[in-house]
Amino acid sequence: MLTLLQNNKDLQISELIFDLIKEQIILNAISTVINLKIPDCLKDGPKTVEQLAKKTNTHPNSLSRLLRMLSSIGIFTKVKETQEEDGHERIKYGLTPTASLLQSNENNMLKNFSLLLGRQSFKRSIDDLQYVIQTGENSFKHINNLNIFEYLQQNPVDAKIFNEAMTAMTSSQVSSISALYDFSQFNTVVDIGGGQGLFLSSILKDNSNLTGIVFDLPYAIESVEKQQIQHMDSSSNVDNNGILSRCKFISGDFFKSIPSGADGYIIKNVLLNWDDESASTILKNCLNAMNFSMKSNQKYKKNNDHKIKPKLIIIDMIMPENNEISFGNLLDIMMMILTQNGRIRTKKEFTILLESCGFEITNILDSSSTSDPMSFLSIIEAMPKPISD
Ligand SMILES: C[S@@+](CC[C@H](N)C(=O)[O-])C[C@H]1O[C@@H](n2cnc3c(N)ncnc32)[C@H](O)[C@@H]1O
Repeated sequence: MLTLLQNNKDLQISELIFDLIKEQIILNAISTVINLKIPDCLKDGPKTVEQLAKKTNTHPNSLSRLLRMLSSIGIFTKVKETQEEDGHERIKYGLTPTASLLQSNENNMLKNFSLLLGRQSFKRSIDDLQYVIQTGENSFKHINNLNIFEYLQQNPVDAKIFNEAMTAMTSSQVSSISALYDFSQFNTVVDIGGGQGLFLSSILKDNSNLTGIVFDLPYAIESVEKQQIQHMDSSSNVDNNGILSRCKFISGDFFKSIPSGADGYIIKNVLLNWDDESASTILKNCLNAMNFSMKSNQKYKKNNDHKIKPKLIIIDMIMPENNEISFGNLLDIMMMILTQNGRIRTKKEFTILLESCGFEITNILDSSSTSDPMSFLSIIEAMPKPISD
């Protein structure tokens, strides 16, 4: 009986190791075929390895082994065709719906995150976890000599891939966030660290009376301007529901100041990048922006009325209090690797952080209760604590 249990345990451990090796090799293989533009070469139909190797300037035998592996897990199709001329059989590889997602003109989580995690700057940092554990410092800086957002400012290729991955992630989260939270209550919202502006543009699209500001570092804002805000409506040049005229892009540094004048301040997937001290600076700058609006509007001060106070809407992942399996646990390690002590916070940690910065939490909504498997975010709504005279 004991031997049987031990065998079962060995089996489970072997499966775990197999999974770990499998995932690493598959991620590497997928980012390689994207970089070589193999899915693009197959858009007009299946091709032989020789045809693909010629088009992509690769080594036929190595490419054939890579495609054999990827077709074995359903990324490409592998079909045998009999040649009419000589009756010989030859193998052709083609697109599956998954491989179609890897084409250059596609924007989705699978493609964009495979590319991002395949970049040397990210891949080498992830491999360097031991350094993080030994020193308490992030390996991204150790490998790339710069903190992540300084690095992205100076490396436009990586910045573009990073921004596209964030935008693809946002696009998979927008509908469940909009279903959970009513943004129609606001007149003007600022999306702090709003990246390429996809989240803001989506809520502006749904709320035609709303105006908004995307606030981010110059590298992010300039790249949106360069793309002429194509993502706001990639299907046509039509300004969908007047979004362009209702949206401003402002570049700046949230450690210095945040635009004032709004009644909704959104901060999505940003606080997890920072330690408590930095997160406090961002939140206090946000409070300053809110206080500025409230001071210039006497009715806030007189009534101390919750209904007319600006609101802070934090959209972030919350770490479960008990150690249950969660994406939060994995992402927390990623934050340790990539950022300066960024972390996934528990509800309690968020409460302490917000209270110490002059906010009170008014609501917490959990999107994991929605049916969307991609939604692992929560919404924390907070307001400035009442101003005492
Ligand atoms: C993890 S991304 C999240 C982007 C977006 N909110 C989303 O949910 O997809 C963090 C964002 O914070 C921005 N950021 C980092 N440091 C900043 C700073 N000092 N001032 C303004 N934005 C900053 C980055 O450029 C990036 O767009």
